[in-house]
This record gives sequence, structure tokens and C-alpha cells, in this order.
Amino acid sequence: MNKAPLGRLIGASLGPGDPQLITRRAWAALQSGARWLYPVKKAEESSYALGIVERGGLPVPADAEALVFPMTRDAIALAKAWARAATRTVELLQQGRDLVFLVEGDASTFATFGHLTRVVRELAPEVIVDTIPGVSSFAAAAASTSLTLAEEDETFAVIPAAYGVEVIDRLLDEFDTLVLLKVKPLIDEVLALLEKRDLLATSCFIEKVGSPDERIVHDVASLAGEKVNYLSLMLVQNPKRVRGELRRGCRKTRPASPHCGSD
Ligand SMILES: C[S@@+](CC[C@H](N)C(=O)[O-])C[C@H]1O[C@@H](n2cnc3c(N)ncnc32)[C@H](O)[C@@H]1O
Repeated sequence: MNKAPLGRLIGASLGPGDPQLITRRAWAALQSGARWLYPVKKAEESSYALGIVERGGLPVPADAEALVFPMTRDAIALAKAWARAATRTVELLQQGRDLVFLVEGDASTFATFGHLTRVVRELAPEVIVDTIPGVSSFAAAAASTSLTLAEEDETFAVIPAAYGVEVIDRLLDEFDTLVLLKVKPLIDEVLALLEKRDLLATSCFIEKVGSPDERIVHDVASLAGEKVNYLSLMLVQNPKRVRGELRRGCRKTRPASPHCGSD
């Protein structure tokens, strides 16, 4: 007996908060008749991603469904939550209708959607996933603060601050700009490092960029001791970085190596 084809699983990146940053493709997916799924941290709690769409003026369909992704380090609780979310997603896909999963920021950047698709594929390897790219929090943060992430041959890196200040200290020697995501639990340690390296003046803190609660703090030292929101990041520029020599592999005159940039 032929099984009915599964619906497609669409990851709609909504940008970090301003509905004007929802791409036309994501907007079309939301209005395509696909069933909406949106992430929440707890049952009955509001969803930041859903809020972006609501501010954009789209009514939430009556059959939109929340999937719970708890913010916990408890591995067992997490595994259970992921299994529950993926099982429900597959159940809905088996009804043959497309699903559109609402993603805050960009769906390929530290997003729940990536992990959800992996677990869903373990249950239903044949599922077709369509990831719609979007504006990431740090791209919007750079634009809101008029800081550039990189120009010409500058380098920048995006890391979760949870790697700790020793790693951040080391990366400051390697990159002209660092984007520190998930900075909340380490904010005081990061500030102490920036003070030690004399980088407070070239750093900026951004919370809930693009939302009505957006907050931009240039005087980052004033944040010491403050409990900041989870949806916050820091942009750190290191104008004192000593750069290495640039290799111009593609432009070299010697014909020896076929590899670009590998001389
Ligand atoms: C799980 S990651 C999600 C990243 C998101 N997919 C993106 O493309 O930016 C969550 C972290 O991203 C950053 N973030 C996400 N949305 C943000 C926002 N609206 N304003 C500031 N930072 C945000 C924060 O550092 C937060 O701790």
C-alpha cells in the first residue's frame, strides 16, 4: 500500500525582531497554507518568534501549534523535549500538509530548527526540509549600532560567550571583531576582560535588537552587575590587533599549486 507523501518541513527565518526584516520568501511561506509551528520555552508561554510575525500584522492561524524547547542543561529533560517535539512534527507531516517552523533570526545560525530537523530526519529520513535564510541577530545589531563587522581584509568571528574569557582573550588576537552571543551568564567576566585589554570603548551591547524592547548600550562598563536578557549580544572590535601577512594564493604568478590560497 502506498503511503501518503509527507508534508515539507519549512524553516522560516524571521530576522531578530523587526518584522520589516522578514524576507519575502518567509512571508510567502507563512501565507502558503502551511501549518505554523512555533517554539516556546514553557507550555503556555509567549513565543518571541511568533511575536515578530504578529507585529508584522499577520493573524495567527487557529491551528498554529507551540512546540516546547526548555532552557535547561538537564540532558534527560532536554532529550525528552526534543523527542516529543520531533515526534509531534512527524505526526503532523504525516497528515500530508506542509509545516512552517517559525525561527527567530536566521535558521542556520545557532537555531532550534537545525537540531529539530536532525531529530525529525532520524524518525522520517524521507522528509523534505526547506530552510529559508534570514537576517541574523548580529547582522541587525551591527546595522543598528553602525558598527561594521568586517571591511576589506579584516576578520570576524561569531562565538557563544560560554567558551569563557580565556578563549575570548585568545580570539581577540586573531580577529578584528568578535561577536559574542549568549553573553548573559558571563557578562561581568567579559567586561573585566575588555577593561583589562582596554577595549571597553570599542565594544557595544545590544539586547532584543529590532524589537520594541531593543536596547543598545555603548557604555558597556555600566552593565557591570546587571542581569541582562538572554536575547543579547556583544560586538567587540579590537583596533589594536596585529595582523599577519596576507596570502594571495589565487593571484600568485607561480603555476605550481592548483589550490586557491594554499601557498
Ligand atoms: C539560540 S541563539 C539564536 C541565534 C539566531 N538564530 C540568529 O540568527 O541570530 C540565541 C542568541 O542569539 C543572540 N540573539 C538572538 N536574537 C537576538 C536579538 N533579537 N537581539 C540580540 N541578540 C539576539 C543572543 O546572543 C542569544 O543569546
